[in-house]
Amino acid sequence: PIVIFQSPDGTQRKVSAASGTVLMQAAVSNDVEGIVAECGGNAACATCHVYVEATHAERVGPPGDVEDEMLDFTAAERRPTSRLSCQIELSDALDGLVVQVPEEQV
Ligand code: FES
Repeated sequence: PIVIFQSPDGTQRKVSAASGTVLMQAAVSNDVEGIVAECGGNAACATCHVYVEATHAERVGPPGDVEDEMLDFTAAERRPTSRLSCQIELSDALDGLVVQVPEEQV
């Protein structure tokens, strides 16, 4: 699927990712700024935080329990559509997904 990362300044990065990979990987392997991913994808650092566009939130779904707890430790404020990008598995159903990168991650 194609996914779109929107920076705090409004610029957009469109990247192509393989189904079965996670959103964080798509960001890191394409050098998307602002996704730190310190723990390497284990839902243990909260530095891969993203805000899912409200209109896409339903198809992405809610966070799991562990992720939900980690979301209380994000550097930028938690919002209703906050997710950890390492916990969003990509599939064709998420083609066109738009997420916003927060101002800060650490
Ligand atoms: Fe650490 Fe996602 S990479 S929580």
